[in-house]
Amino acid sequence: MKAVLAYSGGLDTSVCVKLLQEKYGCEVVTVTVDVGLARGELREVEEKARSLGVVEHYTIDAREEFARKYIFRAIKANASYQGYPLSTALARPLIAEKVVEVAERENAEALAHGATGKGNDQFRFEAVFRALAPDKRIIAPIRELNLTRKESIAYAKKHGIAVPVDVEKPYSIDENLWGRSIEGGSLEDPAFVPPEEIYEWTRLRRHEPELIEVEFSRGEPVKLNGRALEPVELIVEANRLAGEHGVGRIDMIEDRILGLKARENYECPAAELLITAHRALEALVLTRRELAFKAQVEARWSELVYFGLWNEPLRLALDAFIDRTQERVSGRVKLRLHQGSCRVVARESENALYSLEAVSFDDKSLDQRSVEGMLRYHALQAEMYWRTLRRR
Ligand code: ARG
Repeated sequence: MKAVLAYSGGLDTSVCVKLLQEKYGCEVVTVTVDVGLARGELREVEEKARSLGVVEHYTIDAREEFARKYIFRAIKANASYQGYPLSTALARPLIAEKVVEVAERENAEALAHGATGKGNDQFRFEAVFRALAPDKRIIAPIRELNLTRKESIAYAKKHGIAVPVDVEKPYSIDENLWGRSIEGGSLEDPAFVPPEEIYEWTRLRRHEPELIEVEFSRGEPVKLNGRALEPVELIVEANRLAGEHGVGRIDMIEDRILGLKARENYECPAAELLITAHRALEALVLTRRELAFKAQVEARWSELVYFGLWNEPLRLALDAFIDRTQERVSGRVKLRLHQGSCRVVARESENALYSLEAVSFDDKSLDQRSVEGMLRYHALQAEMYWRTLRRR
């Protein structure tokens, strides 16, 4: 049987290659979908896969697609699940789709992933596998063999697989253009204070405050500090700029799909910068009713994506609503970055629903006396309620 495995080069997926060969008798094809790894690392990942005896390896550059079709959608949706700006969750459906494409090209019977039975990624991979390739067998070796992380490490050592993590610091790290997540090991104790070393993208390198301007066109970021950038470049640059100020560090308790509460650490400087700016612009151009309704849509959108339901028709319908609102979300936002904080300090748009004359205390164009009629009825029902009390 030929199996196509989503391969990151990390501990779990490397162990999976061997397990698929040994315990399942498979020929293994590995697919590494690049959603934001450093260039050099990809070559190492390929070499590692080949050294494990795979029959074929594919490296697929999906950064552009990830940025345009997934991250930009997440920005328009101000995507956040319980305060986690969806990053891993956002990339999984795209990775799974690419695995299916390779399986078709390779005429493979099985699709495989290295997710455990405790996390969210198994749901995300398998939802896509089932939707796009219902006839293929799904193999999840780590879950099916009920392996612990310690057992995986032992198995890796036994098979001469280079282990990038050690038993002292067995962090499980996932990263893509939109964020980096660190979990496992001593971080599993929510009372444990994470050591500085777990962070890579948000080490404080600049100590003076800095102003950054983000320009949006129809809800999508197009310029940083006046410089037009392509989506991937823009996100990479936003991560660098905000990360240097320590912006985008999150330490949280998250409710996983299964219901398990998990302690999660994230680094997401670009997400923090761009979503903060995007929200500020929306506040200027959308009506209060649009904003209130959109907040509900955002919560539902984020929950669907977190739950791996990217292909659920409701997600597409919500995106249609979101896109309609984004037609006017164009303009510029200035933010002040300093010591881990990212604060909006100015915003402007041609579509602003803002009238300086109307709101200014120094202007007469809105005649204050004209409001009297509205005041009379503003609290009509409350007024009547108090009247009934007085009658008793
Ligand atoms: N909890 C996050 C999610 O479910 C991130 C999981 C990342 N995985 C990891 N091995 N660090 O989307």
